Amino acid sequence: MANGIRSTLEWLECSLCKAAFDVDEVQTLCDRCFGVLLPRYGLEEAARTLTRKALRDRECSMWRYRELLPWVNEPVTLVEGMTPLLPARFLGQSLGLDRLFIKDESRNPTGSFKARGMSTAVTMARDLGVRRLILPSAGNAGGAAAAYGALAGLSVELYLPVETPDPFRLEAAALGASVHLVDGSIADCGARVRAEAGERFDLSTLREPYRLEGKKTMGFELVEQFDWDLPEVVVYPTGGGTGLIGMWKAFDELERLDLIPAGKRPRMIAVQAERCAPIVKAFLEGRKRAEAWPEPVTYADGLRVPSAVGDYLILAAVRESGGVALTVSDQEMADSQLAMARGEGIFPAPEGGATLAALKKLVERDLVDRGERIVLFNTGTGLKYPRIPGLKLP
Ligand SMILES: Cc1ncc(COP(=O)(O)O)c(C=O)c1O
Ligand SMILES: [Zn+2]
Repeated sequence: MANGIRSTLEWLECSLCKAAFDVDEVQTLCDRCFGVLLPRYGLEEAARTLTRKALRDRECSMWRYRELLPWVNEPVTLVEGMTPLLPARFLGQSLGLDRLFIKDESRNPTGSFKARGMSTAVTMARDLGVRRLILPSAGNAGGAAAAYGALAGLSVELYLPVETPDPFRLEAAALGASVHLVDGSIADCGARVRAEAGERFDLSTLREPYRLEGKKTMGFELVEQFDWDLPEVVVYPTGGGTGLIGMWKAFDELERLDLIPAGKRPRMIAVQAERCAPIVKAFLEGRKRAEAWPEPVTYADGLRVPSAVGDYLILAAVRESGGVALTVSDQEMADSQLAMARGEGIFPAPEGGATLAALKKLVERDLVDRGERIVLFNTGTGLKYPRIPGLKLP
């Protein structure tokens, strides 16, 4: 990549037993304890070139943070990231909040924040010699994997829940992926992938260590967009939790680089669907790990995740940040999806609607203050979901 700047990726660290793993070969979970592996960088080296000043002249994509991203030869990119942070004045006013923002991830390639993670994951897979990819998806990750796979010339095989709406299936097929439908949730899709992967490389959330790195750039961008400051509250729709864990990791790296002051991180709010809320349940019960949710039901496909391999990382980040985990019903999500669309002109995914529905509860419970900077994550476009409960197709 330009200017002789390289990735300072050095090794992978098991988030549980701290064992170290090599970045020169493909990796999955820790082979000793099944912990999630976290990429670690040479921060001293990164600090030499990744400065506030240097960033002013960098490209308008998440690859502007290239010292702290995983790549070897050249990123596989469709220009993802640097999504707008939009002031939500109307919604803010109606909730009595002065500084409400929406980070609009629907502007990414393939219409969701999943593009970020697939850009880094496919980059590393290709650079490490992988030719064939396989993954379970609720829809958005599949579309993104199909797109980046196509760009990199890798084959992509997807396992989607049979309930996945048509537009996701069409998108993946159009982009050349092979699509298999599974009677069950994304957990059942994951089990099928593990049974059938063979020689194919499994890109499942957090079982593959580099999707997280793309997602963490949402945290870097927030800091830049708030002019090297941090918002007080981040509201994030949590399925597998990669976005939330990634942003927490980003804040950690920026603190270590002295690019932000210590102790100023936002309260991280994890939002789940009322009928699929393993993380919220564990949060409320004071547990470190979550139990699998028996019958996950929600029209927000990205939140229909009954168990997350990174459950302990999500719970730790939420607690450390002083945040909370809470649920919203499908109807609350739908009403808020429309409120965001009609109030701010953004047609959000149901998951984006969920963040606004959760914010209403935070306001009611006095868990946010009027003057705080609050960021709702609209993680994807509403265009791929064919129904909104309560809204009739005209
Ligand atoms: C639109 C959307 N929002 C949120 C999520 C949940 O993402 P995470 O794994 O970061 O919790 C997904 C996952 O499929 C999604 O598609
Ligand atoms: Zn381990």
